[in-house]
Amino acid sequence: MIRHNLIHRSADREEIFRQLEPVCWSDELDCWLVTDPDTIRAAQKSRDLVVICHQAEVQKISRQLNLNLDDISDVLGSMPLSTEGAGHSTRRRRISEKIRTARPATLARFAELADKTFKQCISEKRDVELVSGLFHPLVSDIVLNISGVNMRTRPDYLSATQVFDRALGLKRRLLINGELQHMRSQVSQNSQADDANDALALAILGTDSLLGSFSLSFMERVKSNPGVPMSDMDWSGQLTQTSVPFIERQATTDLDLAGTRISSGQRVRLYLDRFSYEPVASRTGFFGLGRHACPGRSISQGAWQILGKMFSRHQLKVTVKDVQFRSADNMFSFPTILKVEFHEG
Ligand code: HEM
Repeated sequence: MIRHNLIHRSADREEIFRQLEPVCWSDELDCWLVTDPDTIRAAQKSRDLVVICHQAEVQKISRQLNLNLDDISDVLGSMPLSTEGAGHSTRRRRISEKIRTARPATLARFAELADKTFKQCISEKRDVELVSGLFHPLVSDIVLNISGVNMRTRPDYLSATQVFDRALGLKRRLLINGELQHMRSQVSQNSQADDANDALALAILGTDSLLGSFSLSFMERVKSNPGVPMSDMDWSGQLTQTSVPFIERQATTDLDLAGTRISSGQRVRLYLDRFSYEPVASRTGFFGLGRHACPGRSISQGAWQILGKMFSRHQLKVTVKDVQFRSADNMFSFPTILKVEFHEG
């Protein structure tokens, strides 16, 4: 039997996507699952399917349990990804402009730091852990440059980026609330409220999406080219894997989605990871489509191209020795440990 809440972490998900109806109901998740690429695209364009109001859900938990989750609630209320209409357009414009302005200097810095950090990694050769040794420092630097927020890593890998996770336990919610307080303290003093909220949104939405997609795309290149030197691998222009396996929407009215009746109020889970099994050119689908499409796409692809060019300058071969994914993650799916060995022979 397929465990729907584990599809995004399953090694067999290509087969699962093939077995599932393009749109099917999940009792387990209490929502529709959509795995057909065209229907995923259509759902994102629909005005009748809107982003989830995560703030209302957190406020309900906070009231029921008499807990202070104000930091989570404030962040969710000000995220472009939690809002629609005029409020969303204004936030989205501001945020897109911030990324666009920061892009040239951020990528120039990224290229330099990538070169220096990767040289350090390959000088060690054996058992190099690439998430903490390469990808995390690089992504933290990008995010710091764009948002002004320094994302710290907790030993258990819990991150404020998981703030949208509906299945979070109370202890983790309280820890995330604390992490958000810490993030806000870095930007609040000299910032207008809007700027501080934008900074938090950028750090939350930009960190694990980019970190995980770098690690997964690197791993995919290396694993599909066993024994091939990095210089002979095709580091094609785009990211080939995503750490954002799905996104969700809620119906504001009864509607028809590819022949399936969706009732007002029901949720729809769109598996963007489905594009991993499409030709590389279609994998831009990882960044979403329509009014909430990712404004970080160009900088993310630009950074990946810089990494690709850098890897292709090295004739070393790479063997993956150990991969461990973050546990208890219902939002993202990506390794927190990626141990490799670099060798010449
Ligand atoms: C490979 C890396 C990335 C992937 C795969 C990715 C994926 C996505 C996806 C799928 C969405 C749409 C979510 C939805 O419609 O529900 C999105 C939205 C967003 N992303 Fe990214 N993202 C990446 C990197 C970044 C970066 C680096 C930033 C900023 C520094 C960023 C900022 C945002 C923002 C602000 C939104 C919300 C847009 C809106 O609601 O209008 N993302 N991202």
